[in-house]
Amino acid sequence: MAFKATGLDDVVAGQTAIATVGKAGAGLTYRGYAIEDLAEQSTFEEVAYLLLYGVLPNAYQLRSYQEALRRLRDLPPPLKTMLEQLPGDTHPMDVLRTGCSALATLEPEGPKRDAVAIARRLFACLSAMLLYWYHFHQGNTRLTIDADEETGAGHFLQLLHGVKPPELHRKMLDTALVLYAEHEFNASTFTARVISSTLSDFYSAVTGAIGALRGPLHGGANEEAMALMSQFATPDEAEAGILQRLADKEKIMGFGHRVYKIRDPRSPIIKRWARQLSEAAGDGRLYAIAERIEAVMWREKRLFPNLDFYSAVAFHWAGIPTSLFTPLFVFSRITGWAAHIIEQRADNRLIRPLAEYTGPPPRPYPPLAER
Ligand code: COA
Repeated sequence: MAFKATGLDDVVAGQTAIATVGKAGAGLTYRGYAIEDLAEQSTFEEVAYLLLYGVLPNAYQLRSYQEALRRLRDLPPPLKTMLEQLPGDTHPMDVLRTGCSALATLEPEGPKRDAVAIARRLFACLSAMLLYWYHFHQGNTRLTIDADEETGAGHFLQLLHGVKPPELHRKMLDTALVLYAEHEFNASTFTARVISSTLSDFYSAVTGAIGALRGPLHGGANEEAMALMSQFATPDEAEAGILQRLADKEKIMGFGHRVYKIRDPRSPIIKRWARQLSEAAGDGRLYAIAERIEAVMWREKRLFPNLDFYSAVAFHWAGIPTSLFTPLFVFSRITGWAAHIIEQRADNRLIRPLAEYTGPPPRPYPPLAER
């Protein structure tokens, strides 16, 4: 069978009971629940539980789960020392990738292979891992990682800004984490499944997934979208700039999707939050620029914004530095990765596709003296 020399478009590479993406009538579902319902009614912790265990928690289960996560937020001292020794100008995604790998040496998975326990640990401590490094190098302070904030979203914002976050910001981030949590066989999740299929450990699968997510065609798009929007002072300037880039055959980050063909169902949800936070900040300029770019991309290319585009606006107005946008994707997607690693392990077969060979035909080997 000959494949197109592209990225496995339309190839069904396995089965999953975790999510559907782009199915007719149901844009995105986690375990059968529509993303619109989850974004409206669930907290991120409920979604994390749903992805891991397959069912929504009841009130008691949710409380116990949240308490367990809060107890797991602090970092082992050798990890803090390692984070202090990383260069201050490291990309935050590299900090997470390295930190995750380092934690594997301090708290290895071991023969019991308790994936749920490691998933919980990583889910609880990744924010602290990043922000410990961030504050040490940006502010020369050793962050105290407390467990006051009940939710992961509040915990991240509290650690970042050192004050209790406004409820509007916390809720926006909580919703963004729900939207980012899971997306079927996307590149990073598939990476995690390929690694898991070799029976490697949980941390290796997550470390590889972080590496895949880092690229601008995947998770890195939200940072690129922010960098793009920041170049324009007005919507008219943005329109001219986008038209020029399209004429130069440049890709506009935050637009298009491999699977969704008509729209990304997550985009209108995060767009509403982006508008609310812009209004609360009393500054509609960035939002107006984003809306104009959206209109131009639709008019010129019939391309729609994906989740990363308006996330950039919403994160910006929550005071989150651009370099931390993609790490936020990790704090959320760790839940989807975990569910997929567990699913892969439950019915494993080594993932090992074939390649269509395009190299030279068989030929005689020339001795060194004759080359
Ligand atoms: N800006 C401009 N043109 C785009 C585009 C974008 N963001 N996304 C796709 N296109 C165009 C391509 O240039 C190509 O046009 P052509 O046929 O005239 O050459 C066509 O649409 C198909 O694009 P292609 O990159 O082959 O499709 P894909 O299925 O591989 O793309 C993405 C999926 C997500 C990689 C792609 O849309 C993209 O690069 N988007 C920007 C990065 C991004 O936002 N990633 C986050 C995804 S959630």
